[in-house]
Amino acid sequence: MSGRLEGRRAVITGAARGLGLACARRLASEGARVVLADLDAAEGAAAAASFGDMGGSAVFVRCDVAAMEELEAAIRRCEAEWGGIDILVNNAGMAPAADILSIDEAAFDRVIAVNLKAAVFGTQVAARRMIAQGTGGVVINMSSVNAVLNIPHLVAYNLSKGGLNQLTRNAAIALAPHGIRVCGIGPGTVLTELTRNAVWTDEAARRSILSRTPIGRAGEPEEIAAIAAFLASDDASYVTGETIYADGGRLGLNYTVPAGA
Ligand SMILES: NC(=O)c1ccc[n+]([C@@H]2O[C@H](COP(=O)([O-])OP(=O)(O)OC[C@H]3O[C@@H](n4cnc5c(N)ncnc54)[C@H](O)[C@@H]3O)[C@@H](O)[C@H]2O)c1
Repeated sequence: MSGRLEGRRAVITGAARGLGLACARRLASEGARVVLADLDAAEGAAAAASFGDMGGSAVFVRCDVAAMEELEAAIRRCEAEWGGIDILVNNAGMAPAADILSIDEAAFDRVIAVNLKAAVFGTQVAARRMIAQGTGGVVINMSSVNAVLNIPHLVAYNLSKGGLNQLTRNAAIALAPHGIRVCGIGPGTVLTELTRNAVWTDEAARRSILSRTPIGRAGEPEEIAAIAAFLASDDASYVTGETIYADGGRLGLNYTVPAGA
Protein backbone atom coordinates (compact mmCIF):
# COMPACT_ATOMS: atom_id res chain seq x y z
CA MET A 1 0.00 0.00 0.00
CA SER A 2 1.38 3.44 -0.89
CA GLY A 3 1.81 6.09 1.78
CA ARG A 4 -0.82 8.50 0.46
CA LEU A 5 -1.55 9.60 4.04
CA GLU A 6 1.99 9.51 5.40
CA GLY A 7 2.25 11.77 8.45
CA ARG A 8 -1.45 12.73 8.49
CA ARG A 9 -3.20 12.76 11.86
CA ALA A 10 -6.78 11.53 12.04
CA VAL A 11 -9.61 11.28 14.54
CA ILE A 12 -12.31 8.72 13.73
CA THR A 13 -15.44 8.50 15.85
CA GLY A 14 -17.26 5.22 16.39
CA ALA A 15 -14.03 3.42 15.52
CA ALA A 16 -14.11 0.52 17.97
CA ARG A 17 -15.69 -1.70 15.31
CA GLY A 18 -17.58 -1.72 12.03
CA LEU A 19 -17.08 0.93 9.38
CA GLY A 20 -15.16 3.26 11.71
CA LEU A 21 -12.59 0.59 12.52
CA ALA A 22 -12.27 -0.40 8.86
CA CYS A 23 -11.66 3.26 7.95
CA ALA A 24 -9.09 3.59 10.73
CA ARG A 25 -7.22 0.47 9.57
CA ARG A 26 -7.17 1.63 5.96
CA LEU A 27 -6.01 5.16 6.85
CA ALA A 28 -3.28 3.71 9.08
CA SER A 29 -2.21 1.31 6.35
CA GLU A 30 -1.65 4.34 4.10
CA GLY A 31 0.52 6.06 6.71
CA ALA A 32 -1.89 7.99 8.95
CA ARG A 33 -1.79 8.02 12.74
CA VAL A 34 -5.27 7.60 14.15
CA VAL A 35 -7.27 8.33 17.29
CA LEU A 36 -10.09 5.83 17.69
CA ALA A 37 -12.88 7.54 19.63
CA ASP A 38 -15.74 5.38 20.83
CA LEU A 39 -18.21 4.79 23.65
CA ASP A 40 -17.10 1.19 24.01
CA ALA A 41 -13.88 1.21 26.06
CA ALA A 42 -13.19 -2.54 25.98
CA GLU A 43 -13.68 -3.00 22.24
CA GLY A 44 -11.93 0.30 21.46
CA ALA A 45 -8.82 -0.44 23.50
CA ALA A 46 -8.54 -3.92 21.95
CA ALA A 47 -8.94 -2.43 18.47
CA ALA A 48 -6.22 0.16 19.07
CA ALA A 49 -3.85 -2.50 20.44
CA SER A 50 -4.19 -4.49 17.19
CA PHE A 51 -2.73 -1.63 15.11
CA GLY A 52 0.81 -2.28 16.31
CA ASP A 53 0.73 -5.71 14.63
CA MET A 54 0.04 -4.12 11.24
CA GLY A 55 2.73 -1.46 11.70
CA GLY A 56 0.28 1.41 12.26
CA SER A 57 -0.10 3.95 15.06
CA ALA A 58 -3.38 4.21 16.95
CA VAL A 59 -4.59 5.38 20.33
CA PHE A 60 -8.01 4.85 21.81
CA VAL A 61 -10.04 7.54 23.58
CA ARG A 62 -13.28 6.65 25.32
CA CYS A 63 -15.76 9.25 24.17
CA ASP A 64 -19.49 9.82 23.91
CA VAL A 65 -19.67 12.06 20.85
CA ALA A 66 -22.92 13.55 22.14
CA ALA A 67 -20.95 15.08 25.04
CA MET A 68 -19.14 17.99 23.43
CA GLU A 69 -16.34 18.12 26.01
CA GLU A 70 -15.58 14.42 25.38
CA LEU A 71 -15.54 14.92 21.62
CA GLU A 72 -13.23 17.89 22.01
CA ALA A 73 -10.99 15.85 24.32
CA ALA A 74 -10.60 13.22 21.58
CA ILE A 75 -9.41 15.91 19.17
CA ARG A 76 -7.08 17.37 21.82
CA ARG A 77 -5.63 13.87 22.33
CA CYS A 78 -4.71 13.75 18.64
CA GLU A 79 -2.88 17.07 19.05
CA ALA A 80 -1.19 15.90 22.24
CA GLU A 81 0.03 12.66 20.60
CA TRP A 82 1.06 14.01 17.21
CA GLY A 83 0.97 17.80 17.30
CA GLY A 84 -2.18 18.47 15.28
CA ILE A 85 -5.14 17.11 13.33
CA ASP A 86 -5.49 16.74 9.57
CA ILE A 87 -8.49 14.40 9.15
CA LEU A 88 -11.76 14.01 11.07
CA VAL A 89 -14.16 11.18 10.25
CA ASN A 90 -17.60 11.76 11.81
CA ASN A 91 -18.68 8.13 11.76
CA ALA A 92 -20.36 7.29 15.11
CA GLY A 93 -24.02 6.58 14.57
CA MET A 94 -27.09 4.83 15.90
CA ALA A 95 -30.38 3.75 14.36
CA PRO A 96 -33.00 2.79 16.94
CA ALA A 97 -36.37 1.69 15.53
CA ALA A 98 -39.29 4.13 15.88
CA ASP A 99 -41.63 5.75 13.37
CA ILE A 100 -43.30 9.17 13.39
CA LEU A 101 -46.21 7.88 15.52
CA SER A 102 -44.08 6.18 18.16
CA ILE A 103 -40.83 8.15 18.50
CA ASP A 104 -40.48 9.93 21.83
CA GLU A 105 -38.64 13.18 22.32
CA ALA A 106 -35.73 11.77 24.33
CA ALA A 107 -34.99 9.05 21.74
CA PHE A 108 -35.22 11.59 18.92
CA ASP A 109 -32.89 14.01 20.71
CA ARG A 110 -30.32 11.27 21.33
CA VAL A 111 -30.18 10.20 17.67
CA ILE A 112 -29.86 13.79 16.50
CA ALA A 113 -27.17 14.47 19.13
CA VAL A 114 -25.07 11.43 18.13
CA ASN A 115 -25.62 11.34 14.36
CA LEU A 116 -25.85 15.06 13.53
CA LYS A 117 -24.99 17.49 16.31
CA ALA A 118 -21.72 15.69 17.09
CA ALA A 119 -20.72 16.00 13.43
CA VAL A 120 -21.56 19.73 13.45
CA PHE A 121 -19.48 20.53 16.52
CA GLY A 122 -16.78 17.96 15.79
CA THR A 123 -16.33 19.69 12.43
CA GLN A 124 -16.26 23.08 14.16
CA VAL A 125 -13.62 22.05 16.70
CA ALA A 126 -11.44 20.27 14.13
CA ALA A 127 -11.76 23.07 11.55
CA ARG A 128 -10.76 25.73 14.07
CA ARG A 129 -7.65 23.68 14.90
CA MET A 130 -6.84 23.12 11.19
CA ILE A 131 -7.19 26.85 10.51
CA ALA A 132 -4.88 27.65 13.43
CA GLN A 133 -2.35 25.11 12.07
CA GLY A 134 -2.60 26.73 8.63
CA THR A 135 -2.41 23.31 7.00
CA GLY A 136 -5.95 22.75 5.68
CA GLY A 137 -7.55 19.38 6.28
CA VAL A 138 -10.37 16.99 5.47
CA VAL A 139 -13.66 16.18 7.23
CA ILE A 140 -15.57 13.06 6.19
CA ASN A 141 -19.18 12.52 7.28
CA MET A 142 -20.49 8.95 7.31
CA SER A 143 -23.93 9.42 5.80
CA SER A 144 -26.20 6.71 4.32
CA VAL A 145 -28.53 6.02 1.41
CA ASN A 146 -31.10 6.77 4.13
CA ALA A 147 -30.19 10.44 3.82
CA VAL A 148 -32.20 10.28 0.59
CA LEU A 149 -34.40 7.18 0.81
CA ASN A 150 -36.73 6.55 3.75
CA ILE A 151 -37.46 3.69 6.09
CA PRO A 152 -40.52 4.73 8.13
CA HIS A 153 -39.42 3.01 11.34
CA LEU A 154 -36.09 4.86 11.23
CA VAL A 155 -37.55 8.37 11.26
CA ALA A 156 -34.88 9.97 13.47
CA TYR A 157 -32.08 8.20 11.56
CA ASN A 158 -33.46 9.36 8.20
CA LEU A 159 -33.68 12.97 9.41
CA SER A 160 -30.21 12.91 10.97
CA LYS A 161 -28.57 11.60 7.80
CA GLY A 162 -30.47 14.09 5.61
CA GLY A 163 -29.14 16.84 7.86
CA LEU A 164 -25.65 15.38 7.67
CA ASN A 165 -25.66 15.75 3.88
CA GLN A 166 -26.56 19.43 4.27
CA LEU A 167 -23.75 19.79 6.81
CA THR A 168 -21.36 18.33 4.22
CA ARG A 169 -22.42 20.89 1.61
CA ASN A 170 -22.71 23.84 4.01
CA ALA A 171 -19.38 23.31 5.76
CA ALA A 172 -17.63 22.56 2.44
CA ILE A 173 -18.54 26.03 1.21
CA ALA A 174 -17.73 27.77 4.49
CA LEU A 175 -14.38 26.02 4.92
CA ALA A 176 -13.14 26.02 1.30
CA PRO A 177 -11.30 29.34 1.76
CA HIS A 178 -9.32 27.69 4.57
CA GLY A 179 -8.21 24.72 2.47
CA ILE A 180 -10.50 22.33 4.34
CA ARG A 181 -12.51 19.85 2.28
CA VAL A 182 -15.74 18.35 3.66
CA CYS A 183 -17.05 15.18 2.01
CA GLY A 184 -19.55 12.43 2.74
CA ILE A 185 -19.84 8.70 2.19
CA GLY A 186 -23.32 7.19 1.78
CA PRO A 187 -23.19 3.41 2.24
CA GLY A 188 -26.03 1.10 1.28
CA THR A 189 -26.11 -2.17 3.23
CA VAL A 190 -22.63 -3.06 4.45
CA LEU A 191 -21.89 -6.17 6.47
CA THR A 192 -20.58 -4.90 9.74
CA GLU A 193 -20.88 -7.03 12.84
CA LEU A 194 -24.21 -5.35 13.54
CA THR A 195 -25.87 -5.95 10.16
CA ARG A 196 -24.29 -9.41 9.81
CA ASN A 197 -25.89 -10.57 13.05
CA ALA A 198 -29.08 -8.51 13.15
CA VAL A 199 -30.25 -8.30 9.51
CA TRP A 200 -28.33 -10.83 7.45
CA THR A 201 -29.50 -13.80 9.52
CA ASP A 202 -33.15 -12.99 8.65
CA GLU A 203 -33.76 -14.56 5.23
CA ALA A 204 -36.75 -12.31 4.40
CA ALA A 205 -34.80 -9.16 5.28
CA ARG A 206 -31.78 -10.38 3.32
CA ARG A 207 -33.88 -11.06 0.21
CA SER A 208 -35.61 -7.70 0.56
CA ILE A 209 -32.24 -5.89 0.69
CA LEU A 210 -30.85 -7.85 -2.25
CA SER A 211 -33.97 -7.14 -4.31
CA ARG A 212 -32.96 -3.48 -4.12
CA THR A 213 -29.26 -4.04 -4.76
CA PRO A 214 -28.36 -4.36 -8.46
CA ILE A 215 -24.81 -5.53 -7.69
CA GLY A 216 -26.44 -8.53 -5.94
CA ARG A 217 -24.56 -8.57 -2.64
CA ALA A 218 -24.01 -6.49 0.47
CA GLY A 219 -20.94 -4.31 0.76
CA GLU A 220 -17.86 -5.05 2.86
CA PRO A 221 -16.47 -2.51 5.37
CA GLU A 222 -13.20 -2.37 3.42
CA GLU A 223 -15.13 -1.07 0.38
CA ILE A 224 -16.25 1.92 2.45
CA ALA A 225 -12.80 2.38 3.99
CA ALA A 226 -11.26 2.59 0.51
CA ILE A 227 -13.48 5.60 -0.23
CA ALA A 228 -12.54 7.24 3.07
CA ALA A 229 -8.84 6.86 2.22
CA PHE A 230 -9.40 8.34 -1.23
CA LEU A 231 -11.39 11.30 0.14
CA ALA A 232 -8.82 11.91 2.89
CA SER A 233 -5.95 11.90 0.39
CA ASP A 234 -4.72 14.50 -2.10
CA ASP A 235 -6.14 12.26 -4.85
CA ALA A 236 -9.48 13.91 -3.93
CA SER A 237 -8.02 17.43 -3.87
CA TYR A 238 -10.83 18.85 -6.07
CA VAL A 239 -13.68 17.00 -4.30
CA THR A 240 -15.64 18.86 -1.63
CA GLY A 241 -19.30 19.14 -0.61
CA GLU A 242 -19.96 15.80 -2.30
CA THR A 243 -21.31 12.57 -0.81
CA ILE A 244 -20.15 9.41 -2.58
CA TYR A 245 -22.73 6.63 -2.43
CA ALA A 246 -21.37 3.11 -2.17
CA ASP A 247 -24.66 1.23 -2.37
CA GLY A 248 -24.34 -1.44 -5.04
CA GLY A 249 -26.55 0.67 -7.32
CA ARG A 250 -29.51 1.12 -4.96
CA LEU A 251 -30.12 4.85 -5.35
CA GLY A 252 -30.57 4.62 -9.09
CA LEU A 253 -33.11 1.79 -8.92
CA ASN A 254 -36.79 2.34 -9.67
CA TYR A 255 -37.91 -1.31 -9.46
CA THR A 256 -36.87 -4.42 -7.56
CA VAL A 257 -34.61 -7.08 -9.00
CA PRO A 258 -34.65 -10.88 -8.43
CA ALA A 259 -32.96 -11.52 -5.09
CA GLY A 260 -31.08 -14.64 -6.19
CA ALA A 261 -30.20 -17.54 -3.93
N1 LIG B 1 -23.40 -0.78 8.20
C1 LIG B 1 -24.19 -0.24 7.29
O1 LIG B 1 -24.82 -0.94 6.49
C2 LIG B 1 -24.33 1.27 7.22
C3 LIG B 1 -25.05 1.81 6.15
C4 LIG B 1 -25.18 3.18 6.04
C5 LIG B 1 -24.59 4.01 6.98
N2 LIG B 1 -23.90 3.48 8.02
C6 LIG B 1 -23.32 4.41 8.98
O2 LIG B 1 -21.98 4.08 9.25
C7 LIG B 1 -21.66 4.43 10.59
C8 LIG B 1 -21.07 3.22 11.31
O3 LIG B 1 -21.99 2.16 11.23
P1 LIG B 1 -21.61 0.64 11.59
O4 LIG B 1 -22.43 -0.23 10.74
O5 LIG B 1 -20.14 0.49 11.60
O6 LIG B 1 -22.21 0.58 13.06
P2 LIG B 1 -21.73 -0.23 14.35
O7 LIG B 1 -22.89 -0.20 15.28
O8 LIG B 1 -21.12 -1.53 13.98
O9 LIG B 1 -20.56 0.70 14.94
C9 LIG B 1 -20.85 1.97 15.44
C10 LIG B 1 -19.78 2.35 16.44
O10 LIG B 1 -20.13 3.65 16.93
C11 LIG B 1 -20.02 3.63 18.34
N3 LIG B 1 -20.91 4.63 18.91
C12 LIG B 1 -22.26 4.62 18.94
N4 LIG B 1 -22.71 5.70 19.59
C13 LIG B 1 -21.63 6.41 19.98
C14 LIG B 1 -21.44 7.61 20.70
N5 LIG B 1 -22.48 8.29 21.19
N6 LIG B 1 -20.19 8.06 20.93
C15 LIG B 1 -19.11 7.35 20.47
N7 LIG B 1 -19.23 6.20 19.78
C16 LIG B 1 -20.47 5.74 19.55
C17 LIG B 1 -20.38 2.22 18.76
O11 LIG B 1 -19.87 1.91 20.06
C18 LIG B 1 -19.73 1.41 17.66
O12 LIG B 1 -18.38 1.08 17.94
C19 LIG B 1 -22.95 4.95 11.23
O13 LIG B 1 -22.97 6.36 11.18
C20 LIG B 1 -24.02 4.38 10.33
O14 LIG B 1 -25.20 5.15 10.33
C21 LIG B 1 -23.75 2.12 8.17
